[in-house]
Amino acid sequence: MSELEIRKAVKERYSKIATSASSECCDGSCNDGSGLISLGEVVPVEASQVNAGCGSPLLLISPKAGEIVVDLGSGGGIDIFRASQVVGGNGRAIGIDATPEMIWRARDTKAKYGNKYSNVEFRLGEIECLPLESNSVDYIISNCVINLSPDKSAVFKEAFRVLKQDGVFAVADVTLQKEIPESARNDMDSWSACIAGALTDLEYVRLLETAGFHDVEIEHVSTSNIGEYPFPYYSSHIKAIKKNPAVAIANLPRLSSQMVR
Ligand SMILES: C[S@@+](CC[C@H](N)C(=O)[O-])C[C@H]1O[C@@H](n2cnc3c(N)ncnc32)[C@H](O)[C@@H]1O
Repeated sequence: MSELEIRKAVKERYSKIATSASSECCDGSCNDGSGLISLGEVVPVEASQVNAGCGSPLLLISPKAGEIVVDLGSGGGIDIFRASQVVGGNGRAIGIDATPEMIWRARDTKAKYGNKYSNVEFRLGEIECLPLESNSVDYIISNCVINLSPDKSAVFKEAFRVLKQDGVFAVADVTLQKEIPESARNDMDSWSACIAGALTDLEYVRLLETAGFHDVEIEHVSTSNIGEYPFPYYSSHIKAIKKNPAVAIANLPRLSSQMVR
């Protein structure tokens, strides 16, 4: 399956979801919304209708007023509208998505609320080539998107590039206990439904560290089974830090001990 075929299949699926009224999950194990309550924000109903995430990346971070949060694959904008209320008027919440219909839908939602979300922006773009300046972002979040990318190394390198020093990468994503067979990887429906493109936990950690991240942690939030294969996949929360190089070198012996819980 070529990169082009993957990108086309993914865009087709999410363009349909963006133009339909109802929500559809990646893999059928949608975020049940329980993570939304703890931050106390209001979520526009129009954004909840296209909730296609598999976790709650905002539970992993504590953004402060005035900070900048970027959501990779922001879809209908659910996590961005939430983040915008946490960072406030002097902060910024920027969603990036490659499907034009998702961006249009999210912008339409923003427009319905007048000035309420004036710190929100939705940019059309690919997460492998972010339309953002280097060292400009406090937090990268993402919810069930990176598994869809045909070039995950590029996604992690870009996330590292745009984060400020000590910036935090905090995402929800599908991860696998073991590699699925090559034949299953080539199932386009399964790829665009967030399974066939998923990384194993170990590969996730390896690629993040290769991109330059430290203190990588993976927590399994829920476990499901992959039809005919005798091993599970996980809805996971993944966190990593872009460390100050001097601090990272000083702590070198501890850095190889990532945690997979
Ligand atoms: C499963 S949905 C998740 C949407 C949103 N994060 C949420 O929680 O509702 C995946 C989203 O990622 C976008 N996407 C997939 N691959 C992408 C890529 N390579 N670059 C940018 N966006 C991408 C899709 O267009 C879609 O909106």
